[in-house]
Amino acid sequence: MLAEYIYNHYGKSVKYIADVAGGQGMLTRILRKKYNYQSEVFDIREWTLVGVPHRQEKFEPQHAGYYDLVVGLHPDGATRAVAEAALIKPTILIPCCNFWDQTKKLGREAMLTEISAFYDKASVKHERVVFDFDSSKNVGLVSAPTSASRR
Ligand SMILES: C[S@@+](CC[C@H](N)C(=O)[O-])C[C@H]1O[C@@H](n2cnc3c(N)ncnc32)[C@H](O)[C@@H]1O
Repeated sequence: MLAEYIYNHYGKSVKYIADVAGGQGMLTRILRKKYNYQSEVFDIREWTLVGVPHRQEKFEPQHAGYYDLVVGLHPDGATRAVAEAALIKPTILIPCCNFWDQTKKLGREAMLTEISAFYDKASVKHERVVFDFDSSKNVGLVSAPTSASRR
């Protein structure tokens, strides 16, 4: 489960989490209630689950500055903005459909390869992770900025 991965991977080294395109906010709910993170949903949709903090706006890379970790679980239209946020903040990006480059027909593998290439070019450190949730879209890129990517 993604919340558990975040806890195991980052522990207390992060506190403020942007759950980008978080939808109804289930991930944020778990991150807050079970793991005590200050997580909030960033989503253009109107509502989230009761008790889930929500910024109803389009996520832009510059929003990342406030957070310790940016998570994009199947972030659709926010996919590129999450990848751009990776230049300055740790991110987990688990892309779903091709919102990376709509001029091309990209399947999951091709999209991950293109995002990896984008990270390489920008000097963002990253690894590919297969998450243990039940979906064909369970592969993501876990990244950390470097002094070169921040420039
Ligand atoms: C496939 S859903 C994923 C929801 C949730 N992360 C999950 O995995 O259940 C995609 C979400 O992205 C949101 N979204 C699309 N473009 C966005 C943008 N530019 N900024 C923020 N949210 C966006 C939609 O409103 C929708 O809730």
